[in-house]
Amino acid sequence: MASAMTRFAEKTVIVTGAGSGIGAAAARRFADEGANLVAFDLEPGSIDEDFADLGDRLMVKVGDTTDPDTVNAVVADAADRFGSVDVLILNAGIADFGTLPETDDATWKKIIDVNVNGPAHFVRAALPHLKDSGGSIVMTSSVSGLGGDWGMTAYNASKGAVTNMVRSLAMDHGKEGVRVNAVNPCVIRTPLTEEIIEDEEIHDNLKQRIALGRVGEPEEVAAAMAFLASDDARFITGVNLPVDGGVGASNGQPPLS
Ligand SMILES: NC(=O)c1ccc[n+]([C@@H]2O[C@H](COP(=O)([O-])OP(=O)(O)OC[C@H]3O[C@@H](n4cnc5c(N)ncnc54)[C@H](O)[C@@H]3O)[C@@H](O)[C@H]2O)c1
Repeated sequence: MASAMTRFAEKTVIVTGAGSGIGAAAARRFADEGANLVAFDLEPGSIDEDFADLGDRLMVKVGDTTDPDTVNAVVADAADRFGSVDVLILNAGIADFGTLPETDDATWKKIIDVNVNGPAHFVRAALPHLKDSGGSIVMTSSVSGLGGDWGMTAYNASKGAVTNMVRSLAMDHGKEGVRVNAVNPCVIRTPLTEEIIEDEEIHDNLKQRIALGRVGEPEEVAAAMAFLASDDARFITGVNLPVDGGVGASNGQPPLS
């Protein structure tokens, strides 16, 4: 659904993981609200074609969020080209299943590197620009950063770190005029969750536990990101906002009747 709002006109928004799923929906949302879009991804897919309508307002960058030199260059190029960096949407992330004994060291380190270190590199690189612009950061944490899942220890650890990183950053940089928040989605229909949603039994269980009775759509997360990044949320910082159809409303017990 196209938005009639233009809250990001003249603003430069960097979206990581913009090539797929939630990041692609976020990129579209910010673009539709008038932003200069810096779309960053390891695998850009069809970003060029999908956002061709932006013309000069689009900058596509291909690379890995875990490489600080790449991240520094993306932020510097964005500031050079558009004159400011106003919003970071730190969304690129990966997931894997496994209890701790089932998770080898390389997998553990990779998940932490992408989900925790990647966003940290971007914050470090962009903070001077965000202080200048009175900017804002939104990270994609997860309901998996608010409580535990079965058999997802590395992912839970990584998203728990994101959840608390936004609180700490919000406290340290609020007086510098920079706000830092997160969205915490439950299962959202993206390539990352295709297999889960295609499994009928798991999908049925999910629908039972989600108060609204369905999984979420990427655009529904993007709308929450745009709110948190906008001036509409100017007195909101350090928040982890569940975008979970009511999963977090439950005390965890299964249906009793
Ligand atoms: N889909 C869900 O149910 C769900 C729920 C909660 C949180 N999340 C989080 O949302 C974010 C986006 O997930 P999605 O479902 O859209 O996944 P997705 O796999 O559809 O998209 C993720 C994108 O990030 C990119 N990416 C991955 N690692 C990267 C790296 N190191 N550098 C640059 N780009 C990289 C991928 O190439 C991909 O285009 C992730 O952080 C994920 O943990 C997803």
